[in-house]
Amino acid sequence: MFQFKNPRFIKSTLDWKDAPDVPLPEFAFVGRSNVGKSSLINTLVNIKNFARVSKSPGKTRLINFFDIDGRIYLVDLPGYGFAKTSKAEQKMWQTALEGYLVNSPNLKRLFVLVDGRFGVKPNDAQMMEWLEYENIPFSIIATKLDKLKSNEKKTLAQRINQSLEVRSNPRIILTSSAKRIGKDAIAAHIDELLQKK
Ligand code: GTP
Ligand code: MG
Repeated sequence: MFQFKNPRFIKSTLDWKDAPDVPLPEFAFVGRSNVGKSSLINTLVNIKNFARVSKSPGKTRLINFFDIDGRIYLVDLPGYGFAKTSKAEQKMWQTALEGYLVNSPNLKRLFVLVDGRFGVKPNDAQMMEWLEYENIPFSIIATKLDKLKSNEKKTLAQRINQSLEVRSNPRIILTSSAKRIGKDAIAAHIDELLQKK
């Protein structure tokens, strides 16, 4: 199983062309602001505040590359759907985000995070439709499972699946950073993707 060993922050940038010099397969995390992208990266590497986390949305403002054991990069992306930023800033992040997603030659898989409490919101659906249009394969990671009642947990994957309006049938992985749930499933998924040409 993939081991998230020797994590190392490499760089932050707004320009996909400015990716790290050493090419490695990239696994990127995208999703609404505050969904728990940075927290999930911290859970995977098992270091508090390795990627910066905040209660207020809009914390991650750049494309952040983390080297994992010289084998892959985890890429923390700025969140979308954060209303309290200026139009100009939103535009800048969107351009950076889209530029990275469309052009990065080493993006092995994109993880779209959705908040387990809310499921697929309109801007998540819009993102997924755009990804499909751009032929960017993605998997879905539901976050904050600890906030759900046990019956809600049981039906979450199915509810997400039913609300998808995309043709592909993305993998859905359920996680909680607070309770450290889902790390093994993500490790296994990354392993599987690394073996795929
Ligand atoms: P931006 O960088 O602003 O786009 O946000 P983000 O998606 O990186 O979210 P971040 O990891 O900063 O987490 C946002 C808030 O959600 C923080 O207060 C976290 O502590 C909380 N949070 C993240 N994951 C979980 C989880 O699994 N369970 C619970 N209960 N809270 C979580
Ligand atoms: Mg973040």
